[in-house]
Amino acid sequence: MKKLLAIAVIGAAAMGMAMTANAADLIKVGYAQVGHESDWRTANTKNYQDTFTEDNGYSLELVDCDNDHAKQIEAVRNFIQEGLDYIIIAPIQSAGWDTVLQEAQDAGIPVIIADREIDADESLYTAWVGTAPHDEGVTAGKWLGEQLGDKEANILQIEGSVGASAAIGRTEGFQEEADKHDNWKILDSQSGDFTQDGGQQVMESFIKSYEGKFNVVVCQNDNEAYGAMDAMDAAGITYGVDGDVTLISYDATHDGLQYTLDGKFNLDVECNPIQAQTVSDVIQKIQNKEDYEKKTLIKDEAFNAPGIKSEFATEITKDILDKRAY
Ligand code: AHR
Repeated sequence: MKKLLAIAVIGAAAMGMAMTANAADLIKVGYAQVGHESDWRTANTKNYQDTFTEDNGYSLELVDCDNDHAKQIEAVRNFIQEGLDYIIIAPIQSAGWDTVLQEAQDAGIPVIIADREIDADESLYTAWVGTAPHDEGVTAGKWLGEQLGDKEANILQIEGSVGASAAIGRTEGFQEEADKHDNWKILDSQSGDFTQDGGQQVMESFIKSYEGKFNVVVCQNDNEAYGAMDAMDAAGITYGVDGDVTLISYDATHDGLQYTLDGKFNLDVECNPIQAQTVSDVIQKIQNKEDYEKKTLIKDEAFNAPGIKSEFATEITKDILDKRAY
């Protein structure tokens, strides 16, 4: 009987037929996802759904935590109670993780922190896979310094969600570069929650307070930048390569890069949402009892509008844009 089954499996494989694994053999993974605030986040969710499939040997439970830290902690506790094999967390905020990570460790469930960073001792989690928001902020600052030369900068910044490492890192990295320029002033910096609505609202209120007084707007993701553009359009403020305001964004999603190609964004600093395969590779190594990296950085680039030469960014082309799937 066993021999027959083995022949059937080999036969099916040889014929290229997809074999659906027995449910009991699947690796049970829980992903506590941040929410659905941005195009970047939607792309990241889809990337996990496309990677952690039954055909790839996984059963995935993905919880959209709607940018609510308490909900995210509860999702992780439910994963622990269900006895999943692995837990992946994209932390909404960097603080407040010690207790639940200890609970997962006590239950013997490996935890992989993904996308963002947390303020917790490394011994409390198994691995980390993510991007480097501090470096992204530094890139934005260095690019601006290079482009402005001696010109002064009066900057408005729309930050991401309060307490998120993606916002904290970008803010600190950019500030470090701003501090090197005596004639740069960050007039104001407020959270737009990584959303288009948030970006628009913050920009509308900035325009009321600072109209005619700013020449740089930095938005910490593409969706916020779309909202900021709507607010500036409504107020008759021009931006981008032919405008009065230099517009910098982060994420470099397809639409963000389209705006860069069109010269509406001067710069878009990439934050790559395609991370699931790297996380899966870590899990497979753990399964096979092989050595794995404790921390894996997903590399980012930066893209600026056509015709802008920079040491810190690549000129966007139609070819690059066409290859951007998210
Ligand atoms: O953590 C990554 C950030 O979160 C992205 O910049 C943003 O778009 C997302 O919502």
